[in-house]
Amino acid sequence: MKKLVFATNNKHKLEEVAPLIKSHFELLSLADIACFEEIEEPHDTLIDNAFEKARFIYNRYKMDCFADDTGLEIDALDGRPGVYSARYAGENCSFQDNVKKVLLEMKGQKMRTARFKTVIALILNGREYSFEGVVEGEIIDQQSGTEGFGYDPIFRPNGYAETFAEMSLKEKNKISHRALASKKLIDFLNAI
Ligand code: IMP
Repeated sequence: MKKLVFATNNKHKLEEVAPLIKSHFELLSLADIACFEEIEEPHDTLIDNAFEKARFIYNRYKMDCFADDTGLEIDALDGRPGVYSARYAGENCSFQDNVKKVLLEMKGQKMRTARFKTVIALILNGREYSFEGVVEGEIIDQQSGTEGFGYDPIFRPNGYAETFAEMSLKEKNKISHRALASKKLIDFLNAI
């Protein structure tokens, strides 16, 4: 089976994407290839950050790889935290710090619409491709649920009564931004 590196250190992301990709490719994590460095995300767009990570791995390890970058865009906050979702509450902040900051900024706000957007950057045989997944929803006014990670406890996808953090991994994987982008990646990989 062909090897494909997923350039992430986030075990939640690996858990989400591995079941989608496993039957098609041998998915390797950064730990599997003994890459323990923090890869920079210096750009102000998801796609540039995703390619930064993928190129870092491709150039250093010469292995086919993909990387994702995800942001939560909240309309009432002019699209924030967006590309700054990971460190919204400051350097070395926790998921909880970020969630609390968003809840504070959204306090009393009537417009609650938001979306998660994932961009996957793939480098295969030296060529670059990208795939996007978006899920629309809203920011609820208090945390609910303990599954998932990041902003999951305050994001409720449209058409559902639960937040992502109240869904099982299997349920989240049916509709999530990362699952949608991953499916596009898999369809592409299957077609070549
Ligand atoms: P990253 O740069 O792609 O790792 O994602 C940036 C930040 O977005 C993460 O640190 C999380 O806070 C958040 N995030 C990414 N994906 C998800 C998700 O599926 N659910 C909730 N939050 C997420």
